[in-house]
Amino acid sequence: MNIAIFASGGGSNAAAILKHFEGHDCIRVALMVTNNPNAGALDVASNYGIETLVVNREMLYRSQEVLDLLEDRQIAFIALAGFLWRIPNDMLNKYPSRIVNIHPSLLPKYGGKGMYGHHVHNAVKASGDRFSGLTIHYVSEEYDAGQIIIQLKCPVYPSDSAEDIAARVLRFEHATYPVAIQDLVERLMLRE
Ligand code: GRF
Repeated sequence: MNIAIFASGGGSNAAAILKHFEGHDCIRVALMVTNNPNAGALDVASNYGIETLVVNREMLYRSQEVLDLLEDRQIAFIALAGFLWRIPNDMLNKYPSRIVNIHPSLLPKYGGKGMYGHHVHNAVKASGDRFSGLTIHYVSEEYDAGQIIIQLKCPVYPSDSAEDIAARVLRFEHATYPVAIQDLVERLMLRE
């Protein structure tokens, strides 16, 4: 089964996913899509010899180009890994319960439009919360609001800076997201 990763930034989760599925018997990362021509995720993809596609708004929202490519490459599942643009409705309809995202907080806390990267961890730090964590969820029309699949909680210590929190959550993301994707894709394979 072929999966695609959508990423806008550094791509450390993309790297963790690619490493996890390297040499996997029947699940293959076949495509990396980004909106950012300078995304580190593109370097990650090229290290693994994965096909890449840089999209602009016209391509993603007003043409069939991306959907056609997904179909042509027989993509059955999409993992967002730091992808900052909304997923268009026609893609959501074509991939029901087959597009997931990871968010670096315990949603619904610190989610929604504009809540990404340091914005999330600064808000956690400012709140005085004793826990943060990650959420893996299905993607819906609204940012960070789709059905939750997995949440993993980690401590926030009083001495932590927002950067410390970010680094701790990210380590847990790398350990959790690839395994969660594998589990979800294997369940899809059993159904087909
Ligand atoms: C991660 O914290 C993820 O939870 C969020 O965006 C960040 C992406 O980081 N959605 P990276 O590009 O995978 O390093």
